[in-house]
Amino acid sequence: MTVLNQDQVRSAPTGELVLSMRGIDKNFGAVQALTAIDLDIYSGEVVALVGDNGAGKSTLIKILAGVHPKDGGTITYGDRPVSINNPAESNELGIATVYQDLALCDNLDVVANLFLGHELGRATIDEVEMEKRSWDLLRQLSARIPSVRIPVASLSGGQRQTVAIARSLIGDPRIVILDEPTAALGVAQTAEVLNLIERLRERGLAVVLISHNMADVQAVADRIVVLRLGRNNGEFTVAEVTYEDIIAAITGATDNAVTRRAQARVDAAGDAAVAAGASPDAAPPEEDRP
Ligand SMILES: Nc1ncnc2c1ncn2[C@@H]1O[C@H](COP(=O)(O)OP(=O)(O)O)[C@@H](O)[C@H]1O
Ligand SMILES: [Mg+2]
Repeated sequence: MTVLNQDQVRSAPTGELVLSMRGIDKNFGAVQALTAIDLDIYSGEVVALVGDNGAGKSTLIKILAGVHPKDGGTITYGDRPVSINNPAESNELGIATVYQDLALCDNLDVVANLFLGHELGRATIDEVEMEKRSWDLLRQLSARIPSVRIPVASLSGGQRQTVAIARSLIGDPRIVILDEPTAALGVAQTAEVLNLIERLRERGLAVVLISHNMADVQAVADRIVVLRLGRNNGEFTVAEVTYEDIIAAITGATDNAVTRRAQARVDAAGDAAVAAGASPDAAPPEEDRP
């Protein structure tokens, strides 16, 4: 496991620091939802924001999305401090947020959903151009959509998620925030959305991925930021962290069912090695990944 200090974290990703949050506080009446949260977001990087229900993930990204005002702390975009007072200001800064409910219009087709609020052409909407751009965008994302002229209601969950993510790119953002994009999806559709997230990173976008699925996080994220009870509770590079470490940071426990099972495997392997006449340290067990 590698727990990075702030200086190491900053030098780790290859991309450019796009936005940083420092000391973010937020309360809802008596509920202190966030306390002194720090978060850095880099271009060309997927940062996963993980934590148990109520940890403060959605509240933190809603501050970036201009849905909730922060009560304290600073947000720096590039090298200037910014305030994000409403969703329009968030969009103007180049931040696009895809919420879990997707907010698609079921009865409208893919093109109409992609360009909703951004319709091309002045007096008349240029349908031909919008359809062409829709295909271009979906092709760039390697998205598998059968037709852009069918209502989104007839698409699969993964395809709907794809349309919602593609729509977020219409305004040419630098940061894309995805709140639980695979929560409602099956295995194949999840794989498709994870591929799509990799396309976003390849395009140099900064991706913030909220997920409670550690397999997804380990498959696609570069860095993991853990929140617990509204506070930072660990930051890891995915290449060097185990599933057990992440779970321990999320739950705040070094002793839980997952770590106990892992320890049981270590003990069993040690016993087996002793039985085979080797020292317990001679054959370290392979690390189990979920
Ligand atoms: N609009 C709200 N009004 C009051 N309390 C809220 C509101 N939104 C979130 N909270 C509280 O803030 C805390 C963090 O919630 P949330 O950000 O939704 O967590 P997560 O997304 O990690 O599950 C929880 O205690 C939650 O009940
Ligand atoms: Mg949430």
